[in-house]
Amino acid sequence: MEAKWTEVDEYFAERLAPQDAALEQALADSTAAALPPISVTATQGKFLAMLAEVCHARRILEIGTLGGYSTIWMARALAADGTLVTLEIDARHADVAQKNIDRAGLADRVQVIVAPAAESLAQLKADGVAPFDLVFIDADKQSSDTYFEAALALSHVGTLIVVDNVVRDGEVTNAASTDASILGIRRLTELLAREPRVSSTAIQTVGSKGYDGFVLARVVA
Ligand code: SAH
Ligand code: DHB
Ligand code: MG
Repeated sequence: MEAKWTEVDEYFAERLAPQDAALEQALADSTAAALPPISVTATQGKFLAMLAEVCHARRILEIGTLGGYSTIWMARALAADGTLVTLEIDARHADVAQKNIDRAGLADRVQVIVAPAAESLAQLKADGVAPFDLVFIDADKQSSDTYFEAALALSHVGTLIVVDNVVRDGEVTNAASTDASILGIRRLTELLAREPRVSSTAIQTVGSKGYDGFVLARVVA
């Protein structure tokens, strides 16, 4: 089925989520620099941009930059004078991303912070930054639950929090899994289930990146 998923993804992407030169070049340069091919798809990038638009996001937080592909999609959807902060542990990834962000003309709106995300999140909290309107969690999956807690502490009522890659070929339901990523996602799900401050759902997806899914959570109190 993967060939069909890709065909359908491309069909919609070409028509509904077309990429301009900056997005195409961001992917091409990520590939050329041997970054892993795990950016969101164009249709998912457009979806993230639309979420930013519907919540009139002026402040976006991204955890996991890679080559800046999802960053560009979301930063373009920022409200006027909005800003995006993106956290990346790998200096080589951040370097590719910064060049892609510069070429997209977004350098004035995007700040790439190179450090382990847990440290950057603690620093943002200590700095007393204004809360974010939209958070995209897409770094090491074993930490998805702790990043969610940190994101919640940097949110306001109404903030949307998206967590990528929560299905992973369906492995999420494997209660016997010892995979750190699966354990992280399962801890996140239990946290969401008991956390009264958020209303959440999870959507399975197929497409050119296979079978996966994302969590969408809204801060309600
Ligand atoms: N959001 C990107 C893809 C991110 S891939 C897109 O869709 O275009 C995941 C990224 O998280 C990788 O670049 C990886 O280096 C980074 N990462 C992994 N562990 C991290 C950590 N502890 N802190 C910050 N970033 C981390
Ligand atoms: C992985 C990470 C991602 O952000 C993604 O979209 C797909 C896979 C991974 O670490 O395997
Ligand atoms: Mg991802």
